[in-house]
Amino acid sequence: MGDLITMDDLSNEEIIQILDDANILLPVARGEIYLPLLEGKVLGNLFFENSTRTRMSFETAMKRLGGEVLNLSSIGSSVAKGETLYDTMQMVDGYSDIAVIRHPNQGAAQYSADAVDIPILNAGDGAGNHPTQTMLDLFTIRESHGSLEGLNVMMVGDLRYGRTTHSLSHALVRFGAKLTLVSPKSLKMPSEIVSDLKNHGGEINETEDMASSIDSADVIYMTRIQKERFPDEEEYTKVAGIYKLNANDIEGAKSDMIVMHPLPRVNELHASVDSTKHAKYFQQAFNGVPTRMALLCRGLGVKVPRKVK
Ligand code: NCD
Repeated sequence: MGDLITMDDLSNEEIIQILDDANILLPVARGEIYLPLLEGKVLGNLFFENSTRTRMSFETAMKRLGGEVLNLSSIGSSVAKGETLYDTMQMVDGYSDIAVIRHPNQGAAQYSADAVDIPILNAGDGAGNHPTQTMLDLFTIRESHGSLEGLNVMMVGDLRYGRTTHSLSHALVRFGAKLTLVSPKSLKMPSEIVSDLKNHGGEINETEDMASSIDSADVIYMTRIQKERFPDEEEYTKVAGIYKLNANDIEGAKSDMIVMHPLPRVNELHASVDSTKHAKYFQQAFNGVPTRMALLCRGLGVKVPRKVK
């Protein structure tokens, strides 16, 4: 019921509702108000892959709403002894009320959701989807541009393995965005995703050239080349460092253009961008807290009040 596996699980109306809830929860996310909406509830935070922001922001979100968090990682658990995902999920079903899962295998979040009764939130399944990241990305875009409608969005980097762009492109197209997909040929957005975007009415331009679209962009969404997903090191070396955005590159950009990045960055986003008015990626990372608060409330069927004091 309350699962979130791909952006198909949310209608446009639900997306807007969750973003509105997240906006109301901002003072709670900042720690200015304590609002124990989720008191007595337990979140299972299951990370079978590395994470800094996703894991910590879910944990903060739960705690600032009065809930408790159980953490499980592949290191230090029976996963290392060979326990199956199915069996692990049976335990989580008994120990928590909702679970967040990140896993290296595409499809693992859906598999987990099918294995248990509690709601499952997909925090990244291999090169598949990352819908909770998309929700905080949409929150950040709406915060800066006032709306999600009809924006020019450039996505740059590893569009093949980058799950954040898979989920975000789908959502943006549903709000009428024009997408410029910038990647080397070997890391193009998978063709079935591009077809899906076009079927949803998306205007899609695929190119290898980053420079020529910068000046017309409302959003530049940079991504890391996903080294861990390459079948061999040599293929990675060929494309590593292929795009590098620095402050000079965005001098001619629209004044309200925002630069986003799900982070971590490696070398595709130079620190010189940090001090420009366009840099939104640290704010974006913080926005994971209110957005994930709203998603936890949705998953647990808890209504967010229209106003917090
Ligand atoms: C992203 C991920 O895990 O897909 N990170 C995140 O959740 N903020 C992006 C990445 O690892 O490059």
